[in-house]
Amino acid sequence: MNRESIRAREAVNRNLRAYHRIVDAWDALDGSDRDLDFRLRCRRLFMERLPGPKVLDAGCGLGFDALAFAASGLKVIAADFVVGFFQKTGEKRAREGVSFVGMDLTRPCFAPTSFDGIYAFASFLHVPRPLSALTLASFASLLVPGGVLFLHHVYSRCGLAEYGIAGLCGGGADAVAFCHSERGLSRLLRAAGFKSISIHHLATTRRPSALAERLGLEPYQVIARKGRIG
Ligand SMILES: C[S@@+](CC[C@H](N)C(=O)[O-])C[C@H]1O[C@@H](n2cnc3c(N)ncnc32)[C@H](O)[C@@H]1O
Repeated sequence: MNRESIRAREAVNRNLRAYHRIVDAWDALDGSDRDLDFRLRCRRLFMERLPGPKVLDAGCGLGFDALAFAASGLKVIAADFVVGFFQKTGEKRAREGVSFVGMDLTRPCFAPTSFDGIYAFASFLHVPRPLSALTLASFASLLVPGGVLFLHHVYSRCGLAEYGIAGLCGGGADAVAFCHSERGLSRLLRAAGFKSISIHHLATTRRPSALAERLGLEPYQVIARKGRIG
């Protein structure tokens, strides 16, 4: 492993520790903190473009999107590297038929063409830049031809490539996130085998955090469709 790969693995492990510490705090948030209307519009953007029912919620956290997809009749697998998130929602997931898999996004564990769609809401954000091309190529391989990938992501008006999140959500451990310009991410997606890429700017009702304002973080959404041949 070279130094860059070691740093990237360290970043994944740092994020794992930071998220592991906030499971209870996240579970305690009430619905008004979850920007529900925005979430609905993101889900709709994805669902309207799905070519079939098999969906992976990649980096699912507490799995609210996975549960909503299942309630809409989709066959959902929710995956995250923090197993504690699933333990919180075990009963609801069982009722809705959502399966959970403990998985590092940078090392997905499914067979090729397992899914019609992959939904990654603010999780690809934590994939270290040296691993981003490989992770997107794995996502492409997991999709059927014509399958769609949804990403909710950010770029930085200040041109930052990465930033630290001190004491993630009050848990006391720091996380690290990685930005991509819309053009840069589109380029990576094309190189990974996605053919049709559209960028969206769905409005959120939430005020940007102090960190987002300071670092000029601008959210955007991507729908990328895998080519139908090859
Ligand atoms: C900002 S949260 C978003 C959670 C969920 N998608 C949502 O919208 O509520 C980022 C999620 O990605 C997960 N995550 C970050 N890096 C990951 C990785 N390398 N492998 C798997 N999950 C990861 C975290 O545990 C966390 O649940």
